[in-house]
Amino acid sequence: TQYNYILTSRPEPAVTLITLNRPKALNALSSPLFAELNEALREADNDDSVSAIVLTGSERAFAAGADIKEMKDKEYADVYKNRFLEDWADMTRIRKPIIAAVSGFALGGGCELALMCDIILASPTAKFGQPEINLGVIPGGGGSQRLTKVIGKSRTMEMVLTGRMVSAQEAAQWGLVSRVVAEGEGEVVKEAISVAKEIGDRSQIAVQAGKEVVNAGKPLPFNFMATGRIFHGLFATKDQKEGMSAFAQKRKANFVNA
Ligand code: HXC
Repeated sequence: TQYNYILTSRPEPAVTLITLNRPKALNALSSPLFAELNEALREADNDDSVSAIVLTGSERAFAAGADIKEMKDKEYADVYKNRFLEDWADMTRIRKPIIAAVSGFALGGGCELALMCDIILASPTAKFGQPEINLGVIPGGGGSQRLTKVIGKSRTMEMVLTGRMVSAQEAAQWGLVSRVVAEGEGEVVKEAISVAKEIGDRSQIAVQAGKEVVNAGKPLPFNFMATGRIFHGLFATKDQKEGMSAFAQKRKANFVNA
């Protein structure tokens, strides 16, 4: 399949590599990009010759979040009726393991995207954050729930309420990523491919069953929808318009709490 916003390849016979490819927008996750990502993931999931999937971005950014310029003028009625971003949860139904190889910014929806993967490897340059609060909104992609499970409530609150970015080292200490790899261009992708290859040497039925049981007991689709609805509700506020317009116009937001 030919894609416009992602690249796909087979660095190993049993490994699909998906690279987010909107470099000028720091891989902002526009709706068309996410549709392509879901399509590529489905394709890999349905291909018996693929055992594991690696998802990565560029050296500068894994992904800087949902596309703010696409969202800024949306109204509550639009996002509710069109189930805005609800298809992000589709990837939680992929059976094969997905390994995120994160360099640079993993912010907002980009951090949530990494959290929807099964293993996260970080380059020393990785920076994780949920800066939605600076835009007058909240994490809408299930990140609030997943982060709480992974790093605990207090750290999650600090990230979600202040928007502070967390370094790769701190993320590793917190258990947000499984480890930080050696520095160097392409290192994190190389390491992720090697983990994917190793998984590929195991029984694929056992691997997929393993993923299923680790994920069992997390009613995530529901949480995703519930938090997603609250996220939708913020599109009825002036502060969402102001926060996102200010970002697009490169100025400081002037929130009016309405
Ligand atoms: C649209 C984006 C973008 C985004 C960056 N760009 N992030 N466009 N949506 N999320 C664009 C910039 O507008 C700019 O375009 C170009 O990418 C390069 O970015 P700069 O800001 O010039 O780079 P830099 O100064 O290095 O700053 C990097 C940055 C900053 C700190 C990552 O770009 C930033 O703060 N981005 C927004 C991060 C964010 O708030 N993410 C959360 C989004 S909300 P031009 O055209 O000027 O070159 C979200 C909701 C999730 O994710 C809901 C999920 C269900």
